[in-house]
Amino acid sequence: MDLPASHLQEVQLLRRQYLQLVEPRKMRLPSHCILRDPAFQQCLFRSIFHSNSQSEGSRPPKRYLRRVLKHVIDSILESCGPSCSSSSDGTTCDDPELDEDLLELYTQRQAPSSGAQDALEPVPVTYIPSLPRAPESEEIAVTIVETPNIISGQGTTGLRTWEAALALGEYMCTSHGIERGFLHNVRSLLELGTGTGLCAMLAAKLGVEEVYATDGDENVIASLRENVARNKLETQIKPSVLLWASNPEYANGVDLVIGADVTYEPSSISYLVEEIAARLKAKPQLRVVLSATIRNVETYEGFRKACAKSHLRLQETDWVSPEPPVFFYFPQTPIKIVEVTLALETM
Ligand SMILES: C[S@@+](CC[C@H](N)C(=O)[O-])C[C@H]1O[C@@H](n2cnc3c(N)ncnc32)[C@H](O)[C@@H]1O
Repeated sequence: MDLPASHLQEVQLLRRQYLQLVEPRKMRLPSHCILRDPAFQQCLFRSIFHSNSQSEGSRPPKRYLRRVLKHVIDSILESCGPSCSSSSDGTTCDDPELDEDLLELYTQRQAPSSGAQDALEPVPVTYIPSLPRAPESEEIAVTIVETPNIISGQGTTGLRTWEAALALGEYMCTSHGIERGFLHNVRSLLELGTGTGLCAMLAAKLGVEEVYATDGDENVIASLRENVARNKLETQIKPSVLLWASNPEYANGVDLVIGADVTYEPSSISYLVEEIAARLKAKPQLRVVLSATIRNVETYEGFRKACAKSHLRLQETDWVSPEPPVFFYFPQTPIKIVEVTLALETM
């Protein structure tokens, strides 16, 4: 049976959250009336949970599948209260039904888990932004094998994707109300402190021809190379080790410099500011856009002061996630999108 468009949108919303490994209890689930529709449940099974519905490289771990299935099944069972009217096939709340395939999959998936150790293993996370695109256009997806639960490992914070990268990704997709947002007219781009490379890969998928994805950490760049290959972006993305303020000549022809969550460490702020100032002085029309998670107001104030000292002007916007969401994340502290330019007197 064909599902109504509103139900299909809900399937897509859940699929995007599932592939991005959103914590089950934070997921947006459809209304009770949609959840208990047998046709909707079967569509969930076929398009999200059945093993053929994702390629092996982007399939979430089994323990996560099980947690999501449990959450969805619990919600379906809860949904069968007397308050809903009817579902798309005419069944009512008095006919609580749980799809047999969903239930069978859940009962099969009693996978043993070693708990804490599992949580630190790299897993594929797929980011699928919702874009204002024609319905028939191909979906954009970036799959990154990363360690979502790690804060810092092997001496770097670049082994997981941070909320600031998701915010900058959203800004790329939605700013100025056009499909490529602020990437419009950008042919080449440099990312500083790229980490897992979400923004770099997203920019490439949105059509930027040449992307220099850089980070000061060699392990980060080694795993980025694998993720770039996983996404078949080798011709567009050049991953390189670049320590801030060590080589401002590198990729000096780019149109745009970006950086997400790079203002967090007081000891490296002066290098970041020096890097940006050198690039802007060499090319005043260059655009530089950062996204900053404000975990510590003093640290961010240190960044502001260092910029002022180097004659850089900041245009800051408190980032508010768009609705409907482009990505799924739950920042604990504010995120700013910050455009950096040369102060007028230095131009
Ligand atoms: C908090 S992570 C952010 C990673 C990514 N942009 C994101 O938002 O998911 C900061 C990144 O900056 C890199 N980094 C820190 N100091 C650096 C420096 N002095 N030069 C180059 N990269 C640096 C780290 O290796 C790490 O990958």
